[in-house]
Amino acid sequence: MAVNLEELAAPEPDGSPVGLWPTSMRRQAGELTLGGVPTSQLIAQAGTPVFVVDEADVRMRATAWKRAMDSAFAGLAGADVFYAGKAFLCVAVARWMHDMGLAIDTCTEGELRTALAAGVPGSRLGLHGNSKSRAEIELGLDAGVSHFVIDSLAELALVESIAARRGDVARIVLRVTTGVHAGGHEYISTAHEDQKFGLSIASGAAERAIEETLAAEHLELAGLHSHIGSQIVNVAAFAVAAKALLDLRARTAKMTDHVIPEVDFGGGYGVRYTVADAVPPSPEEYARVLAAAVQRHVADSGLTPPRVSVEPGRSIIAPSTVTLYRVGTIKPVVLDDGVRRYVSVDGGMSDNIRPALYGADYTAALANRQPSEECVRTRIVGKHCESGDVVVKDLALSADLGPGDVLAVPVTGAYGRSMASNYNTVPRPGVVAVRDGRWRWILRPESVSDVLALDPDWAHV
Ligand SMILES: Cc1ncc(COP(=O)(O)O)c(C=O)c1O
Repeated sequence: MAVNLEELAAPEPDGSPVGLWPTSMRRQAGELTLGGVPTSQLIAQAGTPVFVVDEADVRMRATAWKRAMDSAFAGLAGADVFYAGKAFLCVAVARWMHDMGLAIDTCTEGELRTALAAGVPGSRLGLHGNSKSRAEIELGLDAGVSHFVIDSLAELALVESIAARRGDVARIVLRVTTGVHAGGHEYISTAHEDQKFGLSIASGAAERAIEETLAAEHLELAGLHSHIGSQIVNVAAFAVAAKALLDLRARTAKMTDHVIPEVDFGGGYGVRYTVADAVPPSPEEYARVLAAAVQRHVADSGLTPPRVSVEPGRSIIAPSTVTLYRVGTIKPVVLDDGVRRYVSVDGGMSDNIRPALYGADYTAALANRQPSEECVRTRIVGKHCESGDVVVKDLALSADLGPGDVLAVPVTGAYGRSMASNYNTVPRPGVVAVRDGRWRWILRPESVSDVLALDPDWAHV
């Protein structure tokens, strides 16, 4: 049965059915509850800031992708969903993904070790990264990863030399730039030519990498890969990139007689951060468009269909998570066109860099009690020494907000904790999972002492 994410998503706190909140979010006796756990309990026991993940919601979104891909590619050569661990990975999340039948895309030794610690077999792990170390390549070979995604001719040669020394054969997926780029912001658009990722089809680098992989004794050409950007809600962009990738597969078969068995269409499937954002296509819609591209390719080329994979990260984990912050200082700032209330919280760009990095927009709700009827023009800001340290740029929020109140910011599951920093020597927040009225840490918070302990001279001051 198709899972409709918008129907399953909870209404906003004011009751409008916009689907920005995790499925289990409710307002009960004035306060928000997540996974059946009242925010007052979470704040008292876990503190703030804290990321709260609705486990059932994550599992639902992972399953939606798996079912959509399985169903769209059933009549072809089947499909795999690789959860993009860079969005957020810890052992619990890796276990959930494995339980739900997803594979995992990793990029570094840390991500790879996290997934292995969760009991995910190497055969269900891909290893990305445009600058893999020798140690990462060795670890990938030790673990028997499903494939190495390769970004450059230099890295291809490095993997070949390491595999040859060990007497191994590395399965290679070549990441190519199709010329298609999509998504909201230049820094998160990754398939145009002037950037660090991929082997360009236009320049001939992709074809050269194909030839070199085929010629190498210790490499197996398993697939072609493209990733066209992030936060994409236009399915047509995926169709165009898929065609470019599949045309390269067809040309390769003609030139070399090698039929590349797999194609990976990457990640980048958009989510809704605020009510102003368009409702994103469902996994079914993305899967349908990709399957149609593969069907056309098979009909036109006469080749056997490839096995297909996708790498969604954000669309699985972002909407399942809410960050809880405690309000600190509040001050009115007089502007030409009125007054804006600046509300400072106890986190900021160290736990969510996306507003500062990409100008990303979020929304928020008062979590610990019923908001007042009257709302005030508000900007929520962090506690860091940067004027760009904004949490939510502009929203109308309860007029009676005061220090000590708790704010919930939804859709923070992706690229929040995973991109967190210790800027201003703040400890990075922990992550709790909520389910059936209980909560547990899935990533413990750092303490100030944890951060200071890295300084070898600190203890002596
Ligand atoms: C190669 C690759 N795959 C998958 C992803 C995941 O993208 P998203 O979380 O937007 O789905 C990324 C993100 O940057 C990526 O670079």
